[in-house]
Amino acid sequence: MSSTSKNTGGPARGSVTGAGSPAGGNSAVQVEPAFAASTGRSPWWSTAVIYQIYPRSFSDADGNGMGDLKGVTDRLPYLSRLGIDAVWISPFYVSPQADAGYDVADYRDVDPRFGTLTDFDQMLAAAHERGIRVIVDLVPNHTSDQHAWFRQALESGPGSAARDRYMFRDGRGEHGELPPNNWQSVFGGPAWTRLEEADDGAATGPQWYLHLFDARQPDLNWQNEEVRQEMVSILRFWLDRGVDGFRIDVAHGLVKAEGLPDWAGQAAMVSGESSTAEATNVEDEEEVRMGGSAQQEPPRSPMFDQEGVHDIYRQWNEVLAEYHGDRMLVAEAWVEPAERLARYIRPGEMHQAFNFDFLLAGWNARRMAKSIDESLTAAASVGAPSTWVLSNHDTIRHPTRFGLADPTSVPKGIGRQDEQPDESLGLARARAATLIMLALPGSAYLYQGEELGLPEHTELDHAARQDPAYFRTGGEERGRDGCRVPLPWNSQSAGFGFGPDDAAEPWLPQPESFGRYAVDRQDGVPGSTLEFYRSALSHRARFQLGTGVLVWSPANKPGSGVLSFTNGQVLMVANLSTDSIDLPPEHQVIISSGPDALDGSHLSPNAAVWMTPRS
Ligand code: NOJ
Repeated sequence: MSSTSKNTGGPARGSVTGAGSPAGGNSAVQVEPAFAASTGRSPWWSTAVIYQIYPRSFSDADGNGMGDLKGVTDRLPYLSRLGIDAVWISPFYVSPQADAGYDVADYRDVDPRFGTLTDFDQMLAAAHERGIRVIVDLVPNHTSDQHAWFRQALESGPGSAARDRYMFRDGRGEHGELPPNNWQSVFGGPAWTRLEEADDGAATGPQWYLHLFDARQPDLNWQNEEVRQEMVSILRFWLDRGVDGFRIDVAHGLVKAEGLPDWAGQAAMVSGESSTAEATNVEDEEEVRMGGSAQQEPPRSPMFDQEGVHDIYRQWNEVLAEYHGDRMLVAEAWVEPAERLARYIRPGEMHQAFNFDFLLAGWNARRMAKSIDESLTAAASVGAPSTWVLSNHDTIRHPTRFGLADPTSVPKGIGRQDEQPDESLGLARARAATLIMLALPGSAYLYQGEELGLPEHTELDHAARQDPAYFRTGGEERGRDGCRVPLPWNSQSAGFGFGPDDAAEPWLPQPESFGRYAVDRQDGVPGSTLEFYRSALSHRARFQLGTGVLVWSPANKPGSGVLSFTNGQVLMVANLSTDSIDLPPEHQVIISSGPDALDGSHLSPNAAVWMTPRS
């Protein structure tokens, strides 16, 4: 099993046998999410496929070069046809856009770039008419520095009630010239900024304020009762309008450790750097990242995952429960290990948490299997379903990650000077990974454009870049712009149909290759990635994979590069090895990951299939 040869059509080295039997030796594990059993029913979100809309890059109806809410309304037929159950829309609130809307200046209004509240209401009603639920993004950890509260805090001075809504502190050093502690911002550089002399009147000179992200995103003080009440009132504002749920930004960050103690670590969202870049065969690698980090774990960050955050979500859960229709909260919490993450989805807290461990597992059967097992087990231990995600607006698109020499690495952006991916290999693996993900019980999140197989833009110019992380790290992190490029709807139109014909240029340049991926080039084209997603989602619904139970197949042996399990009637087989494998003759293929996936009864490397028993 240590061969590294590519598929040559030679003898198969692995095979899938006895699949579908729950307990067949050491390699069969049965993991049952206890959610439905404990509640007697499955609310919509527990099995939903939720499509992330990054509004500035989805569809530009008004032609200003940036996507908008009308654009979302216009494209609802496309989303219905895709077969998703819900959308999660990244922030569209009033914002100076220092962090693409994750810097909110007014939580109760729509930024004119994206439309109006009326546009929002129309979009919501139109989505609901089609049976599509709508989740909005709530950013409670920080506001924009243009928020009225922060302006008041600056005007009101040290010790004021207005300042207590944020994390202001006197500096250290004789003249307060040193930051209050040594925390580093997630986007690079210090997590504290000192006010200008003119803004302040403290004894030790101007105060400092905390920002875990950009300096234009001051952190709120969650020990302040007014902050808590305000956020509940904002929840109600959107619940009253009819939203179905909230994605909670930095859900693990709201409460900081008492006394804000120094911490030498570097806070990060994506902690998936691979330490295995030199390995040539991903299946021969040690499980360095997960296993290694557990042993030499640094002291837990005082910025994140503090006990106090759970009180907040218990309160929010009660607020949502007052509304009909199974409203939900999904946590964006970069918390490890799975058991700690599961604490966010205990009964009476949030309903879902993003499962970033699965995203970080890369193209590696052993890591994926481990992640799946641990995620399902941890979620089931609190009676919750799991979630699955491969891409979002903060990480390199998975077709690109899987096309890198080390397909388990998750770089923080890719630039022209960096290794460029193998596009077709990455896409083949990405489609196979999608079949793995969509066969798993629970809920799945898709990121706009993945249904087209869109790659990352890996050659953006310096001048085009906008991510604050790029600037705060002096370009060391290339940043997240490459996964946020406006979608190509029509290969023949200007801006690939992102906006109307006379529209302004899309806010980020699209690579030429986007023409090949445009919707018009894939719609109705057999074998296209779009048709593949439509078909996979339809099979997922038909076989009710979201509510199913995962049973590992005996073929799923560590080191084999084969990942295989059953979920109800469906047998999923993925080949992450470098050689073809035999498929079980007693099963027939209902969908394969791509045109080259099958070679007779063999499954090629970098491919996956769903099968059902032959009748
Ligand atoms: C997580 C969001 O997904 C990301 O885009 C944002 O920059 C940070 N939180 C800060 O709000």
